[in-house]
Amino acid sequence: MKELTTNHNLKVGIVAISQNYAVGKDGTLPWNYPKDLSWFKLITENNAVVMGRKTYDSFLGEVLPNRLNIVITRKPMLSDHVIYINSVDVFDTLVSYVSCPVFIIGGVEIFSLLSDRIDEWLVTKIPEHINNADKFMPAGFMDNFKKEKEYQLSDVLVCEHLVRRGNVASIELKHIISNALDLL
Ligand SMILES: NC(=O)c1ccc[n+]([C@@H]2O[C@H](COP(=O)([O-])OP(=O)(O)OC[C@H]3O[C@@H](n4cnc5c(N)ncnc54)[C@H](OP(=O)(O)O)[C@@H]3O)[C@@H](O)[C@H]2O)c1
Repeated sequence: MKELTTNHNLKVGIVAISQNYAVGKDGTLPWNYPKDLSWFKLITENNAVVMGRKTYDSFLGEVLPNRLNIVITRKPMLSDHVIYINSVDVFDTLVSYVSCPVFIIGGVEIFSLLSDRIDEWLVTKIPEHINNADKFMPAGFMDNFKKEKEYQLSDVLVCEHLVRRGNVASIELKHIISNALDLL
């Protein structure tokens, strides 16, 4: 009989940060860069995305299409469109049976909760200083990672690809990035 095995699948944090590490304000993004949104879509499509309940709320009831949407909340409920989970243990179990890359898409609470699980980061640098933001990434969140490469998304936007120190960049993410750049 075939044994049931689990995968160690790739987990990638994807975030856009301002020069002062801002990521959010009033439950939404404090900037408007359509190119970064296109990049996010191209990178995450056909894969799994994991987000906190507040980030999910920022989509105003819409799921991200063509992606497995997983939402972390202490008050999980049943849904036809979203998988709600309520702990890191459930996250570990669920993603070990998912065969596609898993993109951790925020917000700050969820990046912090899952920081030990993140293998690689895609960090878009927003060329602004946002003084009145209310959500910021911790300044040291990239400390255990080294820069693999950076990609020019537009005249003003750069995305850094970071890999956990001691690891090598995954072929899987390199392919995803290469395809996304072709279509951007
Ligand atoms: N710039 C970017 O790339 C980016 C990316 C994503 C989000 N954002 C922004 O970030 C902001 C939202 O981020 P946020 O940090 O406030 O919220 P969040 O991380 O999206 O969600 C927080 C929620 O996650 C759930 N949660 C947290 N820890 C948990 C645990 N240990 N167990 C179970 N559930 C847990 C709780 O949901 P319940 O309250 O339901 O229990 C909590 O209220 C928004 O402004 C959004 O636009 C920016």
